[in-house]
Amino acid sequence: MSLKEVFIDELRDMYSAENQLVKALPKLAKGANNPKLGQLFTDHLEETKGQVLRLKNIFDLLEEKPTGQHCSGMEGVIEEGSDALEKNTEGASFDSGIIGAALRTEHYEIAGYQACISMANALNESEIAGILTESLNEELAAAEKVTSVGQAILAKAVGEPNQDNEPKTGKEKYSDKKSKEDESEAAVAVGKHG
Ligand SMILES: [Fe+2]
Repeated sequence: MSLKEVFIDELRDMYSAENQLVKALPKLAKGANNPKLGQLFTDHLEETKGQVLRLKNIFDLLEEKPTGQHCSGMEGVIEEGSDALEKNTEGASFDSGIIGAALRTEHYEIAGYQACISMANALNESEIAGILTESLNEELAAAEKVTSVGQAILAKAVGEPNQDNEPKTGKEKYSDKKSKEDESEAAVAVGKHG
């Protein structure tokens, strides 16, 4: 596989990631208790639709089709966002969980765009690198806005009472079990290598 082919796969991955976010952001916007946080998600939805168009534009320039690669990383990150939305928590504490999930999606995209921009530069595709940089800058700004709105929300959440009195759901029990496997498998790996 040539670098150009790896690059196109990475771009397809981003295209899938952005499309998945177009679907997920309205759920975060609707779920947020804090209206400023909800508005941020709604604003970023509009930006995300623009990012999808930018990627389409890049595929036109490359004379390649945008589909062909499903981004499973974004699928996982969005899944964590749905977990946050299903939590039996209220108020600012609930929003704090959504903020963590939203930041993960942003930083996942930041990493993806940075990788694509480096490849575009290596391939001397400066026009494409420029288009990708516009999206990267939007992602960086979005992450910053979530962090700054998040500060007030976290400050409020600190004063909220403990709400963890619901029995664990099946999914939470599974997650608990898997986390213990992660720990014991890591211990075995350390024993072998280290
Ligand atoms: Fe995006």
